[in-house]
Amino acid sequence: MTRNQGSGTEVMCKGRVLVIDDDPSLCQTIELDLSQRNYEVVWKASSREGLEEFQRSDFDVVLTDLNMPELNGLELCQKFVALRPDIPVLLITAFGSFETAIEAIRAGAYDFITKPVEFDLLEIAIARAVGHRSLLERLERLEQTLEDSKQFESLLGESAKMLFLFDQLHRVAPSDVSVLISGESGTGKELVANAIHNRSQRANGPFVAINCAALPASLLESELFGHEKGSFTGATTSKKGLFSQANGGTIFLDEIGEFPVELQATLLRALAERRARPIGGSKEYRFDVRVLSATNRDLELEIEEGRFREDLFFRLNVIQLTLPPLRSRGTDILLLAQHFLNLLSRKHHRSVMSFTQPVARKLLDYHWPGNVRELRNTIERALILTRFDKLTVDDLPDKIQAFKKSQWLLHGADPSELLPMRDIEKRYILHVLKETKNNKSLAAKMLGFDRKTLYRKLEIYDVK
Ligand SMILES: Nc1ncnc2c1ncn2[C@@H]1O[C@H](COP(=O)(O)OP(=O)(O)OP(=O)(O)O)[C@@H](O)[C@H]1O
Ligand SMILES: [Mg+2]
Repeated sequence: MTRNQGSGTEVMCKGRVLVIDDDPSLCQTIELDLSQRNYEVVWKASSREGLEEFQRSDFDVVLTDLNMPELNGLELCQKFVALRPDIPVLLITAFGSFETAIEAIRAGAYDFITKPVEFDLLEIAIARAVGHRSLLERLERLEQTLEDSKQFESLLGESAKMLFLFDQLHRVAPSDVSVLISGESGTGKELVANAIHNRSQRANGPFVAINCAALPASLLESELFGHEKGSFTGATTSKKGLFSQANGGTIFLDEIGEFPVELQATLLRALAERRARPIGGSKEYRFDVRVLSATNRDLELEIEEGRFREDLFFRLNVIQLTLPPLRSRGTDILLLAQHFLNLLSRKHHRSVMSFTQPVARKLLDYHWPGNVRELRNTIERALILTRFDKLTVDDLPDKIQAFKKSQWLLHGADPSELLPMRDIEKRYILHVLKETKNNKSLAAKMLGFDRKTLYRKLEIYDVK
């Protein structure tokens, strides 16, 4: 804060003080003294006007007399504290009246000073109050920063894995590189794509998404690159492609692992040259588009098995961001459950605000094959079913209620059965393969094997 003094030199203003006293001459004296000590003073000679001024403007500290007609200083102090608990209030009490001083503190006053006002003491009290306020402001900012670090755009998380991802996102989003987002189904890949766009220099440009698994090759080509009128049966008008619509912005190629093999060379060429030709068109057009893609498949395995071009993979995968499965995010499960509870209870006009401790335990134990999407659906279902204002275990689906952390071990067998180690290993490998939807690279990673070892074990155990 700076203030111009008559001489033309700018001095730091130490704070804005609102003075309320029904004696205007005292107000003026305080103003004169405090302004010489570099405080900015606004004074009002009635409590009503003082209250109005308090609501209209922003002050660092309020100094109010105790005995005034209309509202007295104590009542006024209670109102100030209720309206703005962050602004300290100093009360001016009569000398020697100890009881009123205690009452003032009870009413929420930060401090009190006695009449007749001693200006050096007043300055000390005001400086302390201003210091207190700025400390509160710093604390609030720190809390906000902490809150922000649990979130990147609309992605929530505070587990080490998610904080690592947020850190990567902070650096990757503003650059213009192509990003391949991988992760199991329902882990938040689309949310990550949105977040990258929103934090990029293209945030004001278009964000265009397409699910590459949803269309046959011919339709996908026309969706992506456009077509001219009459270029195929049914093409009654010409159509702009998504690359052209996304110009200046971002295109999100979702489920890229299912991109038709026969169209991959066309996509690769378009991405390499930043040019494309609509179907049936003779002229190419240029585009300026950032490419994000996502997959829940193991693209390296798709390459090995000839279903995905390696050169296209390298073009899309300048940077790979991997979303961890929900089961490995620890108490993020509860953070997200509470978030969905708040969000969905508003949507369904319910006032269910929390869940019981046993629910928390069940949510933490479950293995969440459908990840965050499954958690959201679970909370929504429970919220609709519950008869109470807290979710209970009975509101959870049977499979979550019945889930035992170690159920894979003796899957379907008699719990007292004793088994050879190789049977346990075989069952566990089969369980991991099932959970990773037969994604061998991921399964090998989870098991702590390299892929060759996994293949060898599958052969030994005669798993096809
Ligand atoms: N970290 C998160 N914080 C808040 N909400 C999340 C988070 N991750 C996912 N969600 C929510 O979970 C749901 C699934 O997310 P999303 O559609 O982005 O997953 P996905 O990985 O694209 O899934 P799929 O592979 O099935 O397409 C959405 O409702 C999304 O808003
Ligand atoms: Mg998705």
